[in-house]
Order: sequence, then structure tokens, then C-alpha cells
Amino acid sequence: MTATLPPSVCHPRSETAFTGWMLDVVASTPSTNALAAHLPAWHAVRADTQSAGRGRTGRHWVSDTGGLWISAVLPCPGPREAWELLPLTAGWSLIAALSELGATDLRLRWPNDILCGPRKLAGLLVERHTADTAVVGIGLNVFNQPESAAAELKGATTRLADLVPLGSRNLNDIAGLVLHALAIAHGALAAGDFPRIAEDMNRNWQKARQVSLTLADAPRPVTGTFLGIDTAGHLRLRHTDGSVQTYDSRRVALLRELEN
Ligand code: BTN
Repeated sequence: MTATLPPSVCHPRSETAFTGWMLDVVASTPSTNALAAHLPAWHAVRADTQSAGRGRTGRHWVSDTGGLWISAVLPCPGPREAWELLPLTAGWSLIAALSELGATDLRLRWPNDILCGPRKLAGLLVERHTADTAVVGIGLNVFNQPESAAAELKGATTRLADLVPLGSRNLNDIAGLVLHALAIAHGALAAGDFPRIAEDMNRNWQKARQVSLTLADAPRPVTGTFLGIDTAGHLRLRHTDGSVQTYDSRRVALLRELEN
């Protein structure tokens, strides 16, 4: 399979094949998600650094040397709605990959921040550039020093190398595990297995947390205890009067945890 990164955009430094995937590695790029927009399904691109890494809700993503900055293109055939749960599923797959490496006590902050305690380890940004593919962008702190790279992150991040012994594993090895888990999760979603994934995620959300939801169509945030998701991926909240209400995830612009 040949890589199809436009030569004017960047020159891949290396190309590696993992089962079912083709991975390009570039030294630097503004954003791997933007690069991946040019790639077909089952291609991925990793950069040593990103000069304009993108986070969710338009935030900048600090992408210093030693982190895993990778974007993978997945096929999304059929109606767009069939893939609405891909971001959540991709976050779940990343936890699975990191658990295989021995990481424990990881949790998902809806929809797809990966935290260890209160500190952020990874984040995902899923974008649709074409009707039949999605780009899953993953930013995972591994050997990098995000807090030295950006003072505003002080006390807010963690990195994989501080959580598990990585031995001789390098970023390409970790990329291989992450892509493998992502392909399995994509297959499960395509096969209609989301209810099983939701059940597993809900175990992750057993600890009751007070949250505030900003809804796209409501003037004020709603607060309550986050009870996880239903089999359609919608959020369940218990309010102070004891009632449980379900919120369509498409309405939720932001979930903020009110405590650790
Ligand atoms: C977030 O938590 O806000 C999501 C962060 C996603 C960052 C990754 S790094 C690889 C890919 N390229 C980008 O520009 N963003 C994603």
C-alpha cells in the first residue's frame, strides 16, 4: 500500500505497517488531524511535534517531543448517525490499550479525556472530513514534559512513562497497540456491540461525580450526579430531587466535573 500524504505538505520520515494499518511518521506538522484529512481509511500519521495541535472546543493542544501525536483514518460507511458513538468508543479503546501496557486507575471523563486521578493523560479529537471516513486524533503524553512546555498545565497532566515501566518500548510500539485497539473497537461498533461497550464504560463511571452540563439549547447549565450513559450513548444524570433524566449527547456542549 502506498502512502498518500501530499508531497507539498510533508515528507514522511518513515512508514511502518501494523496489522491492517499503514503508519507514516513525520518530524513536525501543524496538526496530524489536518494531515490525515488527505489519507484513505486504515492509514495513520504520527508526528514528533505539532506546531498547531488542536484540542476539542477549539483549544490548543501542547505537542512537545516525546508524546504520541497520532491521527488514524477509519471507514464510516452508511448513515452518519451510525458513527455518532465513535468518539466515545475511541476513548474506550485507548483505555483498553493503555491497560494492556499495565496502566491502572485510568478513567474516562465524558466524552473522551483520559485521566489518572485528576490529571489528564490523553485526549481525543474526532473529525469527519469526508462522508465515509472519520479521523481519530489521539494525543497521549508518554515521555514528553507538557508542564515544562506550557506553564498553564502545571499540576494538570500526567504521562505514561510515570505510570508504567515502558522498558524499551518506543512511540511506534505504543502507536501499534493504540491502533490495534482502535481497529477492534471500530469493528465492535460496526457490529452493533455498543451496548457492551457502554456497560464496560459504566463500570468506569461507578464513582458518583457531581457534574455540570452545558446544553447547546438551554440558557443555563444543568447540574447533577453523573450516572453514566445508556445504550444509545446518552448521558444519565440524577438531580437533587432524586429524579433521573437522560440527555441526548448531541445536545451536550460541555461536561464539567465539579469535584475530583
Ligand atoms: C482534547 O483533549 O482536547 C483533544 C486533544 C487531541 C490532540 C490530538 S494530538 C493528535 C491530533 N492532532 C491534533 O491536532 N489533535 C489531535
